[in-house]
Amino acid sequence: MKLLVYGAGVCGSLFAARMHQAGHEVSLLARGERLTALRRHGVRLAEEDGSVVERVPVPVVAHPDGEYDLITVFVRTHQVDGVLESLAGVRGDVLFLLNWAAGPRTLGAVIGHERVLLGFPTTGGTMDGDVVRYRRSDLVTRRIAMPIGEPDGRTTPRLERIVATFRSAGINAKAAPRMDAWLRTHAAFEVPLGLAVHAAGGPAALADAPDAVRGMLHRMRHNLAALETPPVPRAFAALRVLPQGLLVAALRLFLKSPTAAHSGLNAPSPATTAELKRLAEQLGAPAQAR
Ligand SMILES: NC(=O)c1ccc[n+]([C@@H]2O[C@H](COP(=O)([O-])OP(=O)(O)OC[C@H]3O[C@@H](n4cnc5c(N)ncnc54)[C@H](OP(=O)(O)O)[C@@H]3O)[C@@H](O)[C@H]2O)c1
Repeated sequence: MKLLVYGAGVCGSLFAARMHQAGHEVSLLARGERLTALRRHGVRLAEEDGSVVERVPVPVVAHPDGEYDLITVFVRTHQVDGVLESLAGVRGDVLFLLNWAAGPRTLGAVIGHERVLLGFPTTGGTMDGDVVRYRRSDLVTRRIAMPIGEPDGRTTPRLERIVATFRSAGINAKAAPRMDAWLRTHAAFEVPLGLAVHAAGGPAALADAPDAVRGMLHRMRHNLAALETPPVPRAFAALRVLPQGLLVAALRLFLKSPTAAHSGLNAPSPATTAELKRLAEQLGAPAQAR
């Protein structure tokens, strides 16, 4: 597969490296200092706090060029507008693997509706200089597949082809029929979570502030109730019906887990703040923790 990976941060770099290692023709699109670092050292990967740094020589480009079998976009929500313009003149289906609650039509309006696919990365990690420190996978996280879907929910030959290609590269992916609702549900959860974590100074600090966790849960419930469709996956409906005490305890456990410690949640930056703000706007939710 001739693949352009647009965005060379945590998720894009890791994905590009794995697809390159599986033998695909991958170009990783980067800019600024990241472009310079990638040209010099290739993608550098380390598992969580590990000292072993793997180097993967993925070809790097500064601009999209020509035609691809697939373009995967891994940028922050507020960075999507800039990407769309540059993809308008390039050929190839475009799979957006990012936080996005504004629906597929806003994307298709710029690049062509027939080109758009939606998904969400299930890997996670942080940047440590030019090293991507990715979250260790375990028996549980290995089973969580990256959801990918057509905007109208159909299972099409191209969707099946993409899922099969990712799976053959060792990336657990699955066709998801209601990807737009999935992304909006995720945003309903993610916006209060991200804002509360930032306000507290990190996931562990938030876990130690039960009142703030209760406030976050209240905003999650509010956002989920405001969705036009039932939550996807359905398990998120539990956030509205289970007793508050039980949910606060579960959320505090999650905030103290290695998963939270080794995700973007634990690496607040201007980019994450700007992403949460844009995501909150897309959702029509308050953009503040309190
Ligand atoms: N990290 C996680 O743990 C995680 C887990 C699940 C989902 N996600 C979601 O997945 C998406 C991607 O996250 P990420 O962690 O990979 O983000 P990230 O580390 O911030 O990477 C985004 C990359 O895209 C680059 N970029 C943005 N606009 C560009 C443009 N016009 N041209 C060239 N490069 C551009 C950025 O460059 P600059 O730095 O120069 O802006 C940055 O290198 C986000 O929606 C995020 O919320 C992240």
